[in-house]
Amino acid sequence: MRELKKKNKVIVSAPGKLMLLGEHAVVYGYPCLVTAVNNRLFITAEFETGDSDKITAPQVKESNFVKETISIFKRKYKITSPVHIETRSEFSHTVGFGSSSAVTVATLKALSVLFEVPLSKKEIFDLSYQVVLAIQGVGSGFDVAVADYGKTLYFIGGGKEISPVLCPKLSLVVGYSGVKADTPTLVRKVKVDYDKNTSKINKIFLEIETLVKKGKVALIRNDLITLGKLMSRNHTLLKELGVSTDKLDHMVDRAVEGGAFGAKLSGAGGGDCMIALTSVDKRDLVVKAIEKAGGQIMDVQVNAEGIKIENGFN
Ligand code: PMV
Repeated sequence: MRELKKKNKVIVSAPGKLMLLGEHAVVYGYPCLVTAVNNRLFITAEFETGDSDKITAPQVKESNFVKETISIFKRKYKITSPVHIETRSEFSHTVGFGSSSAVTVATLKALSVLFEVPLSKKEIFDLSYQVVLAIQGVGSGFDVAVADYGKTLYFIGGGKEISPVLCPKLSLVVGYSGVKADTPTLVRKVKVDYDKNTSKINKIFLEIETLVKKGKVALIRNDLITLGKLMSRNHTLLKELGVSTDKLDHMVDRAVEGGAFGAKLSGAGGGDCMIALTSVDKRDLVVKAIEKAGGQIMDVQVNAEGIKIENGFN
């Protein structure tokens, strides 16, 4: 039994995320492009003096992910000491930046440092993905991977491939629709349609796969015009899948009219955020266009660092 108590307090952070291309198709084993954002979620882990684990989290949803993470970690590594985990986030769980996966990945890393169980990034991915599936039941794991590895990833559903993609400094404008999306419900809705009309939905997924592959090349070449076009086409395909909303469509259309290279919803759809790729000089116009369409601009930088220990332990 491992009960080392050398480190008393560990602080770990993990980034939120935005989907550049490929949502929904990635659940069916196709690739996507996802980027980490500079808005982070922080976990403080300490040994608890009481008899049982203590979780201090503002959201019940977050505390469920922390609880499951502690349980899977302790069972796997035969640990019995109680811990206190506290969460703090720079972004609201309502915006769709992936707070559940960030909280899971950061908690796991903090526990691994506290109990001196070295875990590779892939091991953190595998265990965290197990937690997310245990609670949500569905999901590709793209959000778990990017919270862990950070930067910009080419990711294949379930973690079959997790490859960093060199990403130029992107000028992305992020607009929040004001509506919280329900990701598992949307994923299940697409599954119902997929089962009913597999060849039609698969055709959409195959085109999304092509967009993602072309998007990866465009990113590496810093070809923002092509990347923008691919994003807009991806949005049209997501509309065909029936996961967009009038509000998201409106924000996307106005952003493109305002001068963006391209725009799309980011994530499951049904709400959350849209993203618009712009040149630096058109940025203000695109911001104004999205605001006029009722979007709330989020201050976000992409290609952020993955999991990070904030107080000096490795
Ligand atoms: O709603 P979000 O931001 O968690 O994104 C969901 C993306 C999906 O492809 C629809 C689901 C998944 O797990 O990949």
